[in-house]
Amino acid sequence: MLSGLILTPFANTILTMEYVIGIDLGTTGVKNVLVDSEGKVFASTTEEYPLITPRPGWAQQDPQLWWQAVAKGIKSLIKKSGIKPSSVRGIGLTGQMHGSVFLGENSEVLYPAILWCDQRTAKECEQINEIVGRDEILEITCNPVLTGFQAPKIIWLRNNSPEIYKKVKKVLLPKDYIRFCLTGEFATDVSDASGTSLFNVKKRNWSFEILDKLEIPHCWLPSCFESVEITSKTSRKTEEMTGLPAGIPVVAGAGDQAAGAIGNGITREKLVSISLGTSGVVFAFSDKPFVDPAGRLHTFCHAVAYKWHLMGVMLSAGGSLRWFRDALGEEEKLQANKLGKDTYEILISMAEKINPGCDGLIFLPYLTGERCPYPDPDAKGVFFGISLKTTKAHMIRAIIEGVSFGLKDSVEIMKDIGVPLGGKCRVSGGGSRSKFWCQILADIIGEEMSRLTSEEGPAYGAALLAGSGTGIFPDIEKTCEMFLQEKDRFIPDRKNFKFYSNIYKVYKDLYPNLKSLFDRTAHLF
Ligand code: XUL
Repeated sequence: MLSGLILTPFANTILTMEYVIGIDLGTTGVKNVLVDSEGKVFASTTEEYPLITPRPGWAQQDPQLWWQAVAKGIKSLIKKSGIKPSSVRGIGLTGQMHGSVFLGENSEVLYPAILWCDQRTAKECEQINEIVGRDEILEITCNPVLTGFQAPKIIWLRNNSPEIYKKVKKVLLPKDYIRFCLTGEFATDVSDASGTSLFNVKKRNWSFEILDKLEIPHCWLPSCFESVEITSKTSRKTEEMTGLPAGIPVVAGAGDQAAGAIGNGITREKLVSISLGTSGVVFAFSDKPFVDPAGRLHTFCHAVAYKWHLMGVMLSAGGSLRWFRDALGEEEKLQANKLGKDTYEILISMAEKINPGCDGLIFLPYLTGERCPYPDPDAKGVFFGISLKTTKAHMIRAIIEGVSFGLKDSVEIMKDIGVPLGGKCRVSGGGSRSKFWCQILADIIGEEMSRLTSEEGPAYGAALLAGSGTGIFPDIEKTCEMFLQEKDRFIPDRKNFKFYSNIYKVYKDLYPNLKSLFDRTAHLF
């Protein structure tokens, strides 16, 4: 039934059904999707693994558990779909960015992977700024060095575990460790490499100047490719673990944000997406590497060859609502269980009854510190303006509005530095399932929001890159046009926009006024 004959939509040739796999190595688990030659998701699987926090602010994972989860996921993907493993024509990798996997002489893992959300490297960021120069870092990498990025983690290992550091022979980003397991090759892609602080984002290659200044051997880093380029092929060893035959091409792939943007069709200028997951991201395509001179946004290479993107990353978007659900939503959880509904549905229906502006309650969503536009691990969440009128429902709506104001911050900076935005955004991620949240985003940002029919996120984007890179699909721009469709749109309400614009002015002034208090309290606990 599954390996019949189909007419490909972009060429009038008859082909046997072929498939590509997209692998998204996330922070809580890995998602594998199997996509057919018509761009349809044929099957998907998710396997979880634990996040280890041995100390406050640390976040680690065992790379070997990643690989076991990926292999198990691929096996069950094949079983579930019933396809012939030999009909898989390509694999695309994506995943959590910025992490460090340290490998030794025999490619053994020397230390747990230090993840993107780990905050242990504040000192090392300062050290890098002193050695390389703050301006030089911004000039070469197009970004300031941040605690979550890869370079400060390497320096942290040198400062804190010199014995392990001496044994290092390779440093990989998370998804590239999976590539190594699948193919035995060391490679990465330009979008993921952009978040290391070791990469020349304008020239799309490693910065040997920074590597030399930091005394990091060039040979520790993998070769770097554009996202659709084939880096290597699955090895014989992989067959045993995954059930996939040797010789399947693996394309370079992309960091999760760039791959997610491909899944949202952000492949030309004036296209912008907003993702409302645990973190919240505004992602804008650009033909050239725009740099925010104040370093408030990320400028990275895109997964579209020789193009770039600007990105504002908030650390707690959907994560803020999840915090509320888990910390204060016990009653609503019970209610949801009774009604057979999701707790978020109940929480959002409560928020819907509150007026825009929440009767003066404003929420700052810095529950896990913040990255854009304030790179500050010590920033905290705040409810400002609590009064006798404030109820739980006000707090829920204030969280949704506060996260939307935080995303507006990034859109405003993009406008300020001249990034061409088209007045429209495509929204995706868990929070976008709420029409209410999409409308609030439109009203606060003042731009039209739309949702697409596909909801598979970065794994789907990685599969499209694999299909395009292996020639099953056309170039990535055409592929996205062919396969992606808009589902619905949310038009800003002019009255609400005006009202929210005044609240936004207060929201914007809150962080600068609280900054010194965040710093002072950080040292008390
Ligand atoms: C992007 C970023 C996150 C992580 C985890 O800069 O930090 O998207 O990749 O998903």
